[in-house]
Amino acid sequence: MKNENKEPKLKSRRKFLDIVLQSSILAFLISAFYPIISYLIPPKKNEPKPKSVVAAKVGDLEPNSGIIFRFGREPGILIKTSKGELKAFTATCTHLACIVQYRPDLEHIWCACHNGHYNLNGVNIAGPPPRPLTPFKVNVKNGQIYVSVAENEA
Ligand code: FES
Repeated sequence: MKNENKEPKLKSRRKFLDIVLQSSILAFLISAFYPIISYLIPPKKNEPKPKSVVAAKVGDLEPNSGIIFRFGREPGILIKTSKGELKAFTATCTHLACIVQYRPDLEHIWCACHNGHYNLNGVNIAGPPPRPLTPFKVNVKNGQIYVSVAENEA
């Protein structure tokens, strides 16, 4: 008689433990796969592209050097030529989108990924890049170097 009473309690306890175990497995799977899925499918950001940014301070650049700066979400490259002229371009290589850099030894822009070369006007001169880099307009004001979208690009 006593065993008959315990049987339903045991079944309900087992059912409860099954639910807890299944919930734990589900929570584990969600916590394991959510970062992977969110990495593979990044959320769309509607960050507006700026018209102008401060790329550097005047004293940040020596002649015959270059730096990478952020133009919104895109990288840009600011160059001070050996003659002291400031130039800026998008820093995304037109071949397969690596970030370019300034080569003081060659005095031009270089992409390390596949040995792509651009001259100081951003024109592709050697290697696989199919198109020139997009130029920016450069202005110096109050010791800051402003880079903005060139009029024909706006
Ligand atoms: S990505 Fe720049 S040369 Fe290929």
